Amino acid sequence: MNRLHDKVAVITGAGSGIGRAAAELMSKEGARVVVADHDTRAAEETAALITAAGGQALPLTVDVMEEDSIADMISATVKEYGALHVLCNHVGGTNPRTDLDVLRMDMDEFDRAVALNMRSTLLGSRHAIPHMIRAGGGSIINTASVAALVGDVLQTSYGAVKAAVVSITKSVATQYGPQNIRCNAIAPGAVVTPALENNLPQEVVDSLKRGNALPYLGSPEDIGHTMVFLASDESRYLTGQLLVVDGGMTAQSSAAPGRRAMLPA
Ligand SMILES: NC(=O)c1ccc[n+]([C@@H]2O[C@H](COP(=O)([O-])OP(=O)(O)OC[C@H]3O[C@@H](n4cnc5c(N)ncnc54)[C@H](O)[C@@H]3O)[C@@H](O)[C@H]2O)c1
Repeated sequence: MNRLHDKVAVITGAGSGIGRAAAELMSKEGARVVVADHDTRAAEETAALITAAGGQALPLTVDVMEEDSIADMISATVKEYGALHVLCNHVGGTNPRTDLDVLRMDMDEFDRAVALNMRSTLLGSRHAIPHMIRAGGGSIINTASVAALVGDVLQTSYGAVKAAVVSITKSVATQYGPQNIRCNAIAPGAVVTPALENNLPQEVVDSLKRGNALPYLGSPEDIGHTMVFLASDESRYLTGQLLVVDGGMTAQSSAAPGRRAMLPA
């Protein structure tokens, strides 16, 4: 219940999906939560869910594509709650209709992907770190993806920028470890959120399920629980790492689903 007692956590993209689940779970563990999203109404909805459950939440409108907006989000957090201990750089993604293979990908979409996923992660950390140093330490949690680890037939930009998120994670962990700041990344596999449901046809969703070792896809809470662990002092010796939370998608051989049929009954 109180694994995050006394901690102040900022979560970007907390108006929906994994970010909303993480915000609610962190609040249940006693954190004061800043719910940051460019969709103001969605941020307010998440904050209302948290306060209705007895927690403390501050909804903020942020566009992580803009450095000034990130700077304002961090200052507003410290102004409201007096400190900052946890930052989840969670916003990300690309448009799968224009983020295609190398020959056909849209280079404007590539530039947007860099700004939305990679630059935003770097800038979030840059503005949060001085406050974390003042607080005696902190935990930065970056959302990568299994796309950083394996090739795909499309979403070339997505894989590249998520791999860069992992690299930034290791740089921050190395550079600010001496000031007791930890930085880790999570690579979710397929998680059932509006992003997944709106972008993928049902046959792709079915094939994702077959590709997991476990017989189901992830829920936003599955990733949120991992974020709570990384935010808490239970993970105090864990830094610079990528935690892959993917139902076994990247652990099993691509031959495994077909070979199951070869097993004796
Ligand atoms: N859902 C999955 O299967 C999956 C898998 C791997 C990684 N991820 C990663 O998880 C993160 C979010 O995914 P989700 O599934 O929670 O998505 P989601 O679409 O449910 O939520 C994303 C939130 O980010 C907000 N947002 C978008 N652009 C923004 C901006 N410029 N500034 C501020 N807020 C902005 C949206 O309003 C929305 O509330 C992304 O980094 C994504 O790459 C998701």
